[in-house]
Amino acid sequence: MIEPIQGEGGFNVPQEGFLEYLRKLTNKYGMLLITDEIQCGIGRTGKFFAIENWDIEPDLICLAKSLAAGLPLSAVIAKKEITDTLPGGCIGGTYVGNPVACRAALEVINIIEEENLLDRALKIGERLKERFLQMKGKYPLIGEIRGIGAMRAIELVKDQKTKEPATQETARIVEECIKNGVFVPTAGINKNILRMLVSLEITDEQLDEALDVLEKAIAKV
Ligand SMILES: Cc1ncc(COP(=O)(O)O)c(C=O)c1O
Repeated sequence: MIEPIQGEGGFNVPQEGFLEYLRKLTNKYGMLLITDEIQCGIGRTGKFFAIENWDIEPDLICLAKSLAAGLPLSAVIAKKEITDTLPGGCIGGTYVGNPVACRAALEVINIIEEENLLDRALKIGERLKERFLQMKGKYPLIGEIRGIGAMRAIELVKDQKTKEPATQETARIVEECIKNGVFVPTAGINKNILRMLVSLEITDEQLDEALDVLEKAIAKV
């Protein structure tokens, strides 16, 4: 079970060939390959499923979060040969199949299609990447810039060579951003990654405004 791009882990994009290797390995031993797309799925990377960025097919996909735009809903998608092995009604739970949340999810799927939000995710991602690269040229605190599509992150380091995590500085930047109305969540085991989880409905003006707040905070720290 793997997140195609790690969320809490720090927006780590797997090394080239790694997911293909996992697929081969799981096929070889008759194991299922499950992708957890709870954070990286539903268009965030410019594809509906994050795994579509690679030329492999998982056996199961887990979804939640953006699926119903914040209403509580999760889903497990599986190949037919897997679902066919399950007796009817065997996946249950108190909140399973909530009609309001399901309706919201259908609307989310429609809106993603009607408003071309997969393309929008790529454009947001390009805008984020461009600004982050400009910032990297100005502020030695910025280490790696990573991610796919609108799922982008900045790593903050004390030293470009040793990559020592700038944990306290990251916390100060978040505090400074919050004071100015922008919430930037952190990630990574050292909490030195600033991750962007912007709504795909964000306008360019709103995005630029938020990035200005972020840049000012980085400059101050
Ligand atoms: C990648 C990933 N998987 C699973 C979870 C947990 O999902 P849930 O809160 O729906 O159980 C989260 C975050 O909450 C997540 O980011």
